[in-house]
Amino acid sequence: MKLWGGRFTKETNQLVHNFNASISFDQKFYQQDIKGSIAHVTMLAKQGILTEKEKELIVQGLSEIQEDIQNGTLVIDGESEDIHSFVESHLIKRIGDIGKKLHTGRSRNDQVALDMKLYVRDEIETMDGLIKELLETLHTLMKENIHTIMPGFTHLQKAQPLTLAHHFGAYFEMFKRDRSRLMDIKKRMNLCPLGAGALAGTTYPLDRTFTAELLGFNGPTLNSMDSVSDRDYLIELLSALSTIMMHLSRFSEEIILWNCNEYQFIELDDAYSTGSSIMPQKKNPDIAELVRGKTGRVYGALVSLLTTMKGLPLAYNKDMQEDKELTFDAIDTVKGCLALFTGMISTLKINKAAMQSSAKNGFTNATDAADYLVGKGVPFRDAHSIVGQLVLYCINKNLSLEEISLAEFKQFSPVFEEDIYKAISLSTCVNKRNTIGAPGQEAMEMVIALNEKYLKK
Ligand code: ARG
Repeated sequence: MKLWGGRFTKETNQLVHNFNASISFDQKFYQQDIKGSIAHVTMLAKQGILTEKEKELIVQGLSEIQEDIQNGTLVIDGESEDIHSFVESHLIKRIGDIGKKLHTGRSRNDQVALDMKLYVRDEIETMDGLIKELLETLHTLMKENIHTIMPGFTHLQKAQPLTLAHHFGAYFEMFKRDRSRLMDIKKRMNLCPLGAGALAGTTYPLDRTFTAELLGFNGPTLNSMDSVSDRDYLIELLSALSTIMMHLSRFSEEIILWNCNEYQFIELDDAYSTGSSIMPQKKNPDIAELVRGKTGRVYGALVSLLTTMKGLPLAYNKDMQEDKELTFDAIDTVKGCLALFTGMISTLKINKAAMQSSAKNGFTNATDAADYLVGKGVPFRDAHSIVGQLVLYCINKNLSLEEISLAEFKQFSPVFEEDIYKAISLSTCVNKRNTIGAPGQEAMEMVIALNEKYLKK
């Protein structure tokens, strides 16, 4: 059934119907659509626009439609233009003429704006939960790896030693920010557009504040034109989701690197790896690669919607229907990636010995050797140069700094003493770094305790 046949003299061209229809994707929020309609008629009855009896019949009809869709007895077909038409026409089929009163004082423009907000609000909660699970996994891994020494990199060149706990801790911070971004968006978008009508409000004495309350909003939106044409919150959401994917993608890249034959810092679990159809020896990190790959499609959704919105005059235009598939796909992608990523990192094996030996073989303690000289009164610039020459000497002899004799040290500076060996041991290098945010044990334990509190909130 069409909601708008009256002024037309011809049937819609079938291709036009197919092109225009959104039911294939907006059926995703049938529950939110019904929830919004129930709140709407509850308000209409309170205002005397519908009788109590009419309201009860409509609410009962809507609830039954919801149940029947849920249990599969009512199948959403492609005949209706959208989910709004589908629900309304089935309501009329079930309860007769009273069902025709459902749409009093409402347009599909404010209805769809509401449905999308309700849907997004629910999904933000789900994604927040998934990020929290990832944070909990990271938290466990951090506690287990305060003493797992590994090289830290800049320019992908070995730089200074740190710990795996510290490395995971960097991602902990990123995902913590991602959660707070989602919460900001949820807070800002949480105003109810229902009652804005097509664009100019309605002549019925609606109580918009009441509807907003019924639906858990902080209040009604304050401009009816903006209410039906605002898609800012979706753009903000897609931006936040892009950032989550960017974080997951960077992490994936490191997992792929650490898992490769050259590094062997970690080994992915068999359950989270795939094989090759031709090379029997292969065990590939496809999950991490797919997460990295899918980042592109979430960025794409953001750019698509920004582009869709840029030339639209006020108020509603059908272009805005494009927001749905993009947003749904981005949300589903992020949820899938978060869940799989958490599974992947909670099952991987950590090769502590490989990490430690890599940190040993790359002069990651050179800065500490220079700092040792500074401690003995050598100006830092001179100390830097002395250790630079020492590194070159060691490279030529294929030795690490801690493997050369004190006599050899003394050839470069007389201030070197026996205590140099302790000063440049990897665990000294890491555990002397105890300013807030540094990888030293004390600093790390403090941050882990803060994270623990954060996760309990
Ligand atoms: N499917 C439409 C959308 O997603 C619903 C609103 C239709 N409004 C209209 N004036 N045709 O935007």
